[in-house]
Amino acid sequence: MVKNNEKIVAIVMGSDSDMPVMKACIDKLKDFGIEPVVRIISAHRTPDIAADFAENAAKNGIKVIIAAAGMAAHLAGAMAAKSALPIIGVPLAAAEGPAGLDALLSTVQMPPGVPVASMAIGKAGATNAAIFAVQILALADEKVAAKLDDFRKAQRQKVIEKDAAL
Ligand code: RP5
Repeated sequence: MVKNNEKIVAIVMGSDSDMPVMKACIDKLKDFGIEPVVRIISAHRTPDIAADFAENAAKNGIKVIIAAAGMAAHLAGAMAAKSALPIIGVPLAAAEGPAGLDALLSTVQMPPGVPVASMAIGKAGATNAAIFAVQILALADEKVAAKLDDFRKAQRQKVIEKDAAL
């Protein structure tokens, strides 16, 4: 059960420059009544903090880690290297470079034995990371499962209404 004020989802991102995109993830989790722990942690600039965070996440009550980064995005992999929790990766497009393809490949191409569930690049991935975390939590929480069911029904209804409005 998700108890009031209990933080069971962590969002880590490589830089404050990732926040405008990752706000979609934070907001979507909040839509489901889940208040995440949000941290700026870099696999490259603060590797010691990244390792420590991942290593202690489970004992700190975290059940799912969402890790977002751009460029050579090793943050999700760094989390997976130090934690057996489900790690959801969000590759982000940097201001310069190949529009997030760099981050996508860095996030998704994990070696066998150390999986990361990579989402799409950017805001779609940020949103889906939240929903995917909810889907994981829903397996063991009926209230979260009910909210997920409502969300999917509402989403379906919106498409039907758009179709009818044509
Ligand atoms: C990554 O490098 C961050 O996740 C960010 O997407 C990118 C650029 O970081 P800043 O130079 O904007 O801090 O580590």
